[in-house]
Amino acid sequence: MKIKCSLVAVFVIAQLACFAGAPTEPKAIFTARCASCHAINKVLTGPALAGIDQRRTMDWIISFVHSPQRIIHSGDVYAAALFEKHNRVTMPDHPDLTADDIKGIVEYIKSESKTAVEEKAPFPTPGRLHPDYHPLSLTGNYGFFICYLLFVAVLIGAMLFAVNVQALKRKAYNA
Ligand code: HEC
Repeated sequence: MKIKCSLVAVFVIAQLACFAGAPTEPKAIFTARCASCHAINKVLTGPALAGIDQRRTMDWIISFVHSPQRIIHSGDVYAAALFEKHNRVTMPDHPDLTADDIKGIVEYIKSESKTAVEEKAPFPTPGRLHPDYHPLSLTGNYGFFICYLLFVAVLIGAMLFAVNVQALKRKAYNA
């Protein structure tokens, strides 16, 4: 009984920790702790992070996120130049993020950069590049030609009717 109770307690506490604790999903961590300075495809206070996995090694990214200032002052030329380029804004340390958290964030950045590249394509599909008009042709436009002929027939009918009415009128006056 005691064991059961403590198991339930552990379960409940674990659940509470999940709900109340810091976010563990990469996207949630990024939104909560990075997005104020970083966008993926746009330079904000910090650089755009798209392609970071190609610019830097994973080890570098992990150490940098843990303590940017330590890397910048360690003689890392790239980090020092980046710091200067971004007006010496200090990115805060994130020592509590685990290597897996940071790898998750990089994966999230990768997936988001892909969709952004697709969205940026000027045309959704190459097929849509073809002009969207259909030249008039007898075979493909039966409906149009039938309507046209009917319209012409009605016009001719109206003219004949008007002529007839004139003729009738004249007859009536002459009589
Ligand atoms: C207060 C603003 C701020 C926050 C919050 C912040 N950063 Fe930064 N970040 C910067 C700035 C500014 C730079 C450029 C280097 C410098 O000035 O220190 C940078 C640089 C970087 C770089 C190197 C980029 C490159 O192009 O090489 C990475 C990677 C990075 N940040 C990841 C993160 C991650 C991940 C988080 C969230 C856990 C985060 N940053 C939170 C401001 C911030």
